[in-house]
Amino acid sequence: ENTLGAAAAQSGRYFGTAIASGRLGDSTYSAIANREFDSVTAENEMKIDATEPRRGQFDFTAGDRVHHWAVQNGKQVRGHTLAWHSQQPGWMQSLSGSTLRQAMVGHINGVMAHDKGKIAQWDVVNEAFQDGSSGARRDSNLQRTGNDWIEVAFRTARAADPAAKLCYNDYNVENWTWAKTQAMYAMVKDFKQRGVPIDCVGFQSHFNNDSPYHSNFRTTLRSFAALGVDVAVTELDIQGASPTAYADVTKDCLAVARCLGITVWGVRDTDSWRPEHSPLLFNANGSKKPAYTAVLDAL
Ligand code: XIL
Repeated sequence: ENTLGAAAAQSGRYFGTAIASGRLGDSTYSAIANREFDSVTAENEMKIDATEPRRGQFDFTAGDRVHHWAVQNGKQVRGHTLAWHSQQPGWMQSLSGSTLRQAMVGHINGVMAHDKGKIAQWDVVNEAFQDGSSGARRDSNLQRTGNDWIEVAFRTARAADPAAKLCYNDYNVENWTWAKTQAMYAMVKDFKQRGVPIDCVGFQSHFNNDSPYHSNFRTTLRSFAALGVDVAVTELDIQGASPTAYADVTKDCLAVARCLGITVWGVRDTDSWRPEHSPLLFNANGSKKPAYTAVLDAL
């Protein structure tokens, strides 16, 4: 096979990218995205500030642009993201307590109803744990509504769209030895034991010099899969784009039966949220980097 999507499909997986709606008019960008990838995540367009800019008034314009482009071109969509401390609209940032809890539930219901049956996986909750050695939840307005906010989000999401796989998504949880990884593992284990509806765990995989790829990522993926959830690499980018590291991540996913697929967080280095890291698979001019070939060969 000579594209990432077709190569991943040989083992029943997808290979996706983040799409920025504002770049779809760039023909180099959209041609590469359409040729290489068979799954799409909206980079910002399905986040809370984009979809509910005023309380109770939903705006699906930009998210729909990404979704329609994906469907027109035969790609599946990962929804990202319904409950998160970041990229909240101003009105939500200023809420707390039961009012905020209600607003979170209303947001999940409103967005999931709009796309009901049309999203393969939803990142229901994003980045709820703290970095470092504490293993604690991250402090946020959502966390301050009570520790059960995550399970409430998942139960709401299941009722709103029973067809979507419901994922918890985070970063710095790829290294099995890290406290944050173990804290997320304990939460997923507890959810499975108590019947909280969770189907998948997304590993963002933003690897950089502070948080490098480690070969124990495969142990992490395996350990979560053994809890009875699917796993996915959801936002992959690697500072410097080491071909070896990219190939290793790819092989780690392929080694775990419940690894659904890999999504890279952008198309060309110049499209990346961290362009100074040159972390992606395509150069500014759209040509394939050595990391691209390493991934294709590993698939
Ligand atoms: C980033 C986008 O790439 C940027 O365009 C935006 O300014 C900030 O968010 N973790 C996530 C993603 O879950 O939503 C973030 O995306 C990157 C880190």
